[in-house]
Amino acid sequence: MQVADQALAHILRPISVAPMMDRTDRHYRYMLRLISKQTLLYSEMVTTGAILFGDKPRHLDFSPMENPLVLQLGGDDPVALAECAHIAEEWGYSGVNLNVGCPSDRVQSGRFGACLMLRPKQVAKVVSAMQKATKLPVTVKHRIGVDDHDQYEDMLRFVDIVSESGCISFSVHARKAWLSGLSPKQNRNVPPLRYEEVYRLKAERPSLFIEINGGITSWEAIDEHLKHVDAVMLGRAAYSDPRLFFEADQRLFPGQDFSTHNLESVVEEMANYTDAWVEQGGRAHHVTRHLVHLLARIPGNKYWRRTLSEGAVKPGANGNIVRQAWAGAVERMRGLEFTDLP
Ligand SMILES: Cc1cc2nc3c(=O)[nH]c(=O)nc-3n(C[C@H](O)[C@H](O)[C@H](O)COP(=O)(O)O)c2cc1C
Repeated sequence: MQVADQALAHILRPISVAPMMDRTDRHYRYMLRLISKQTLLYSEMVTTGAILFGDKPRHLDFSPMENPLVLQLGGDDPVALAECAHIAEEWGYSGVNLNVGCPSDRVQSGRFGACLMLRPKQVAKVVSAMQKATKLPVTVKHRIGVDDHDQYEDMLRFVDIVSESGCISFSVHARKAWLSGLSPKQNRNVPPLRYEEVYRLKAERPSLFIEINGGITSWEAIDEHLKHVDAVMLGRAAYSDPRLFFEADQRLFPGQDFSTHNLESVVEEMANYTDAWVEQGGRAHHVTRHLVHLLARIPGNKYWRRTLSEGAVKPGANGNIVRQAWAGAVERMRGLEFTDLP
């Protein structure tokens, strides 16, 4: 199916929050969306098996306000991935992304994730099948290389073959992955970052939309990368320092609809959201575990974290625990203006 330019423009944004298992679930994304209206968000990776044979609403449901939101899929079977891309469209996502970066053993035994970098023709086949099944844009997130296939030319060949399928957007985690010997966590830290090769990819393939990822934690760094590539994706920093994104809309989307929230109103909304989640049968802790970093480095942070962590797991906990944690944190912030916050 033909991807409309508008659908593509909707997801080709200069900043995004990376897909992260156990982190970027619907509750975290709801909070981030209150902080930035314009940042592109990704789901956690969901495997084709989980969608086709599992509890679809549990894996796929989200609040419409989380859009633009891309569903990241894990798999290598064109038929299954095409079916999932079609389901993603029905579910209201803004795009689908294929995971070609995860090096975990579990993922490798399913022959997908980073090991797909060694099978670019299969990735091209998969992307074509997905594109035929949906009007949503299909994008790819990958590494700079895997194992000994880690020269710039290896990555270029991968991107060239995949882009022949019509995929024009690539998010590149700027370090290679070792498929054996390193844990997924080590694979996010040990292999050195090689930003220059992502810059070179953009310079040599200017018609592709190239997003850089890996180790980016500040606005200075974001601004520097944007001189060389189209977009920047933040993972761990977006989780451990979500306030970084309060600036995103004003800085990167001039003339757009800005987020009208400040820290206090985000907390208030998240307290109401927690109430609603609990009323639907969820646990307060599902939501509040993502709020604990919201006051990182601010006076009152310790009280905030402790109150949320201890209070939200108690029976009957609801949004009041967020209100209580905030009231205590504000006491400890006295004298600070919100504009002074670090
Ligand atoms: C807890 C955690 C879970 C992750 N899960 C995924 C995932 O589901 N899919 C994916 O493509 N990458 C995943 N990643 C990798 C991130 O998307 C990102 O590529 C990586 O963390 C490097 O970016 P950063 O240095 O900004 O964190 C995960 C990373 C972390 C820390």
